Amino acid sequence: MTKLNLAVFISGSGTNLQALIDKRNSGELLADIVVVVSDRPDAYGLKRAERNNIPTFVVDYRKLLRKFPERHQAYYHAEEKIIGILSNFKVDYVCLAGFMRLLSPGFLQVFKDGLVHRVINIHPALLPSFPGQHGYEDTFYYGCKWGGITVHFVDEGEDTGPIIGQVVYPIWPDDSLETIKKRGLSLEHGLYPQCINWIARGFVQVQKLGNRIVTNITDPHYSAIMEEMIKKALSSKHERCDGGGSG
Ligand code: GAR
Repeated sequence: MTKLNLAVFISGSGTNLQALIDKRNSGELLADIVVVVSDRPDAYGLKRAERNNIPTFVVDYRKLLRKFPERHQAYYHAEEKIIGILSNFKVDYVCLAGFMRLLSPGFLQVFKDGLVHRVINIHPALLPSFPGQHGYEDTFYYGCKWGGITVHFVDEGEDTGPIIGQVVYPIWPDDSLETIKKRGLSLEHGLYPQCINWIARGFVQVQKLGNRIVTNITDPHYSAIMEEMIKKALSSKHERCDGGGSG
């Protein structure tokens, strides 16, 4: 087992970052968070990191997009800055936690490790359904009866990389977008640290299957862990509304 050094990238509230910090602080995460990078100066997650003495850096993409006429130029400069920042730390994995920017193939190449990149992402939908920036909205307004959360290795596509872990949650008839987001987020906070721990323990095998790269989780407790997560997702039904809805 190796303790991993993580760089966590955020754009907003940072509740996933907080979940990782909490698990690190309680010794349940087999990783340390060595640096946090945000693409926005106003991301609340920066405060969460600062409160926990984690170095933070802002690479202001919006500013760069105003400065450079071409989007790819702005992204190139942003990523150059990020790579410079990360080079001051020993980073094993980059964890995207609500980071709303795509990373270029050039950036990913820096983290190439065999068949995958050492960059992982959490996405609020059951991939390959509903990639992009609005996983909860797309799931809910499609009328899905189950939603899902996915943690995956990042590849050159948008939310297309090899899946590490997934969990589903029910969408009940009286749910709203807000209630499913709440249900999903609480699952995200469990799934992300779990997937990081699987990587740290060497339980994530990467292999080629046909023309896709896939993972196989070799944790002997895999089914018990998944059962626990699904149970949690199902039991959150009872917290969903004020008094009504039984039967
Ligand atoms: C989370 O729901 C995460 O899955 C999602 O952004 C939210 C960030 O919340 N990520 C994406 O949609 C990436 N495509 P947080 O800032 O509270 O962790």
